[in-house]
Amino acid sequence: MKFFLDTANLEEIKKIKSIGMLDGITTNPSLISKENIYNENDVKKHYISICKLLDEGKYLSVEVISTDYHNIINEAKKLSILDPNKIVIKVPMTIDGIKSIQFFSKKKIKTNCTLIFSVGQALLAAKSGAYYISPFLGRLDDISYNGLKLIEEIKKVFFNFNFKTKILAASIRNPIHIIECAKIGIHAITTPINTIYSLFNHPMTNIGLNKFLEDYKKKIK
Ligand code: E4P
Repeated sequence: MKFFLDTANLEEIKKIKSIGMLDGITTNPSLISKENIYNENDVKKHYISICKLLDEGKYLSVEVISTDYHNIINEAKKLSILDPNKIVIKVPMTIDGIKSIQFFSKKKIKTNCTLIFSVGQALLAAKSGAYYISPFLGRLDDISYNGLKLIEEIKKVFFNFNFKTKILAASIRNPIHIIECAKIGIHAITTPINTIYSLFNHPMTNIGLNKFLEDYKKKIK
């Protein structure tokens, strides 16, 4: 299963890359707004800097801020040329978004249909040729719906029709989400840096390591 980092922060990206766990990156307008960037030109430069940190074959999902079909197409074209091999155009699940995914699918430009909260939305995106869909697990859990159940149902529907669209589980908030997605067998998850670090932790590992070192140092001088 691929680990995507849900961030626009260069330092976080470098940290996860340094431990060999960076398979891709997803951003969104809220994540970009957390960085010290104040104009469109610098946003573009920032995306280029992120792409430089990504090895070949790894993708950065960049979300459009336009909402109508023609503006989505124009904006996405400008974003795509920043690094055509690495940038995936992230488009919201709307009628205009779906139309633009169909347009890009014909041009072989990869898209990520974001803000997916139902099987019906996932089906529309897959039929339109989205490369990824991003169902938001955590935000569903927040409103007392079962995010993991949604992922399972989407996987079943995609299997039934042999859709090539990949499931990129988003809004992943804790290690249990990651483990359950792995059990379901989905393609990728995207999550903030701390969730990835939390996978390393187990109290028995710390206790065991301390005991090994203590025993060794007691005897070996
Ligand atoms: C997905 O691509 C989004 O960027 C993200 O996963 C949303 O997560 P959140 O619900 O924690 O903001």
